[in-house]
Amino acid sequence: MRYKIENAEIDILAPFIHKLTGIVLDYSKAYLFETRLGPVLEKYSLTNFQELISSIALNRNIEREVIDAITTQETLFFRDRSPFDFVQNKFFPDFFDKNGMNAPLRVWSAASSTGQEIYSIAMSLQNILFDLSKYNINLLATDISDEAISKASIGRYNKFELSRGLELKTLHKYFNKEDITWKIKDEIRHAVHFRRMNLLKPFVNVPKQNLIFCRNVAIYFSREDRKTLYDRLADHLVDDGVLVISSTESLAGITDKFIKEQFHGAVFYRKS
Ligand SMILES: C[S@@+](CC[C@H](N)C(=O)[O-])C[C@H]1O[C@@H](n2cnc3c(N)ncnc32)[C@H](O)[C@@H]1O
Repeated sequence: MRYKIENAEIDILAPFIHKLTGIVLDYSKAYLFETRLGPVLEKYSLTNFQELISSIALNRNIEREVIDAITTQETLFFRDRSPFDFVQNKFFPDFFDKNGMNAPLRVWSAASSTGQEIYSIAMSLQNILFDLSKYNINLLATDISDEAISKASIGRYNKFELSRGLELKTLHKYFNKEDITWKIKDEIRHAVHFRRMNLLKPFVNVPKQNLIFCRNVAIYFSREDRKTLYDRLADHLVDDGVLVISSTESLAGITDKFIKEQFHGAVFYRKS
């Protein structure tokens, strides 16, 4: 049975979700509360959202399930294509030219969802290095959702997920078939370190990065939280480090810590 949410409940739940995840929701998103959090109420035999909030303090599993349910994990391999052409054909070659082939390279997919983004970066890198294990490559993927990070770290995808963004030759080169699913090869998976992390909390144990992908997550945040996030990402980039956001996002009027640059249609932001 679908739970019907009252505006008075949204008044309590929306600030709670904002504090938990940074995601801004209002009355117009009543259906999201109902369709995504209704099943959590049902699972734990709770009768309303006030009870849900109270029960989170007693049961961390409920908090995790609320986060998994309320976040939008839409993603695909090589999403928007041009950022991956940019890293393969410009960013990585420039990096190794400038720093030498043994220089430590740090790349972070912040809000990595189920892993397609970091694996697309890793495959782009492997295309030019041929064996990631021979180099000093540190790839980090983080997301607030336990469920997303767990799936990402396994690296197993179904036919539908693979049909979104992956060319057949790339599938055969970088995945092994396992029954009806395909699993990313260990040589790629082992290059990535996965961690649960809330981008609106201080970044703990994240060294300065050469490249950060932070795409399609800040769109859910308030302007103030976006500024906090982008300023903090700038602090976690090396001096000429690069931030990639999505084509529907912008840093204009939010932070002056980056300079916008372009490469063959790909827009990226260099730390200023
Ligand atoms: C739409 S997906 C984007 C995935 C990928 N970056 C892409 O562009 O395809 C948004 C991701 O942001 C994560 N997310 C939402 N709020 C977050 C937060 N406060 N901290 C970290 N990740 C968050 C969600 O769990 C979800 O996996």
